[in-house]
Amino acid sequence: MSLVGKTIVLGVSGGIAAYKAAELVRLLSKAGATVRVVMTRGACEFITPLTLQTLSGNPVSTDLFDLTQESEIGHIELADSADAVVIAPATANLVGKLAHGLADDLLSTVLLATRAPVVLAPAMNVHMYENAAVQDNLKLVAKRGARIVEPAVGSLACGYEGPGRLPEPAVIVEEVARAVGADDLAGASLVVTAGPNREPLDPVRFVSNRSSGRMGYALARAAWRRGADVTLICGPTALEDPHGVRVLRVDTAGEMHKAVRREVKAASVLLMAAAVADYRPKKVAEQKLKKGTGKLSIELERTVDILADLKKVRGRRVVVGFAAETENVERNAARKLAEKGLDLIVANDVSRDDAGFEVDTNEVTLIDGNGSEAVALASKDEIADRVLDRVVEIRARGGRRKRAAKRA
Ligand code: CTP
Repeated sequence: MSLVGKTIVLGVSGGIAAYKAAELVRLLSKAGATVRVVMTRGACEFITPLTLQTLSGNPVSTDLFDLTQESEIGHIELADSADAVVIAPATANLVGKLAHGLADDLLSTVLLATRAPVVLAPAMNVHMYENAAVQDNLKLVAKRGARIVEPAVGSLACGYEGPGRLPEPAVIVEEVARAVGADDLAGASLVVTAGPNREPLDPVRFVSNRSSGRMGYALARAAWRRGADVTLICGPTALEDPHGVRVLRVDTAGEMHKAVRREVKAASVLLMAAAVADYRPKKVAEQKLKKGTGKLSIELERTVDILADLKKVRGRRVVVGFAAETENVERNAARKLAEKGLDLIVANDVSRDDAGFEVDTNEVTLIDGNGSEAVALASKDEIADRVLDRVVEIRARGGRRKRAAKRA
């Protein structure tokens, strides 16, 4: 779910990783959130409030008993305004206070007063992190509903190696987005495919297409944010693995077919955003093909149509296809919807510069058995959420086939 228009209260407690809060503020603001920072006295020793105030564009609160801050802001108002409270870094002391209900400064008071989801990103020395008291406190606050972002493993500022590093700010942003997300896909397990395939000609050459994988990655990320368990099966892409998502990389359409057949068994939704290769070279040369003087023809043979093949084993699963078209977009897509037996097809015109392949935006038409809905040009993240809204609707009414059966 998007962070646009959400208010995130970012609590910064006093550890060396406090400097990374600056990047976190920047990323949350860039994602469209209003960021209100609360710093402990210790945090102010590591990074100045002015830095976080400048980056967030909002006053930074530091003191429970500061008359000016209290009269203008008020810890209850701060707690109530939050769509989520995230503490990064969360020190052992802060986690301990939360676990035992202590409220002796502004941040710990806000934490007790808020009804919003709480995300904690602990960061500390490895021995402190592994201390039984800290582990017990973390378990206790997790049991009460706080989301704990596991610390990263690596070399720590104190010179030790191990778990205790603050995770990358981008990871914390994803966890915050999942915390404020609709949760309407909680318990659902989704398989998403993305990207192109590579069909080898010889050890150094292949046949492929222009798909970047961005639409499928956006779907995987958005579904995870909405509470789903997500497996992303992708062809070769240059994109970073989305946080929280299980990523399986494949090359050829044959490999993708095998992976989809295996993974879909445990899934309730399949989103086929991959630009699957329809043809592959009939012969793959064992050695690099040498150039001659004349023309060279490559004979291609059909690959399996993964969606068509799944028709017989799909059961109650919600299946969404994507149609990449350059002409007669809606007509072609509607034909694919029927032929492949889909619940929904997302049609896009890949001949445009601002939609389809290799760009961050898309303009699509969502087509199902009841008609079509145009979705105006938007980021692929926004389009992903629109597609998932439809998936949620289809799931709520028990799938296309169940509805059709009732009508009959
Ligand atoms: N698809 C598939 N297996 C294939 C080809 C496509 O499962 N071998 C899926 C795609 O992932 C997509 C949908 O089918 O969800 C439509 O893909 P598209 O490339 O638009 O259409 P094709 O069926 O390949 O037809 P054409 O190339 O003739 O337009």
